Amino acid sequence: MKILKTIAQAEQYIDDIKSQSKAIGFVPTMGALHSGHISLLKRATIENDVVACSIFVNPIQFNNPDDLKNYPRTIDDDIQKLEEIECDILFYPEVKEVYPEPVFDKYNFGQLDKVLEGKFRPGHFNGVAVIVRKLFEIIQPDRAYFGMKDYQQLRIIQTMTENLELPVQIIPCPTLREKNGLAMSSRNVRLTAKERLIAPSIYRILVELKKKATALSVAEAESWALSQLNNFKELKVEYLEIVDSKTLLPVKDWKGSDGVVVCVAVHLGYVRLIDNLIIF
Ligand code: PAF
Repeated sequence: MKILKTIAQAEQYIDDIKSQSKAIGFVPTMGALHSGHISLLKRATIENDVVACSIFVNPIQFNNPDDLKNYPRTIDDDIQKLEEIECDILFYPEVKEVYPEPVFDKYNFGQLDKVLEGKFRPGHFNGVAVIVRKLFEIIQPDRAYFGMKDYQQLRIIQTMTENLELPVQIIPCPTLREKNGLAMSSRNVRLTAKERLIAPSIYRILVELKKKATALSVAEAESWALSQLNNFKELKVEYLEIVDSKTLLPVKDWKGSDGVVVCVAVHLGYVRLIDNLIIF
């Protein structure tokens, strides 16, 4: 695997690949790679000639300095995992390489970045958009792979790519889960043994909600799921909302939208967990 640490090195290496008309599949990450990331990389391997991964803990998408400080960093393990699956390229720059100057770019996503996560993490999605666009410019992927666990992030990136007509195909990939249903996330390593027993209840409740959803009104379904989550004194719910799967705006009844998704964020100990489930 070729490890590239500067933008100049990466651009030169990528230009060479592009000149051979090879298709590049790209998985941007913040490291602490788990099976979810590996499944994206494996899919990228099947669908492209060359696979690139980036590892960059992007400071401008963290609105909480403690979260940035405590974000797991496991680069040696990550490199080993990438080599095992024969990833071709790792782009692993330092912060000053990516942001030599302060960043003032502002994206307008309308309501899309104001709802759900946006209410609790102001500026987060602008930071995601800045880095993803920068990485797309450097890596020039034909296809880029994103997990559906970060459903709102996926919608933001799809919207940015469409609005700016970026020449990259965004491939949404299903959330990978532990056997007990817990959505895989780099943050899970910070859960205690006791919290690991509670965390799978989040997905279990979403699945139950999906089963009973249309027998109830949207408001009843939401308050049922909220009350189930609140039965666990360890779970501090930030939001649970049933929203339109395109606009992410709250739905009032089941008939108003072509697609509906339930999105949730909870705090469990020191860890903030998000998850979602497509209802239809
Ligand atoms: O999902 C992530 O890991 C990050 O938000 C991303 C897309 C790599 C941008 O920093």
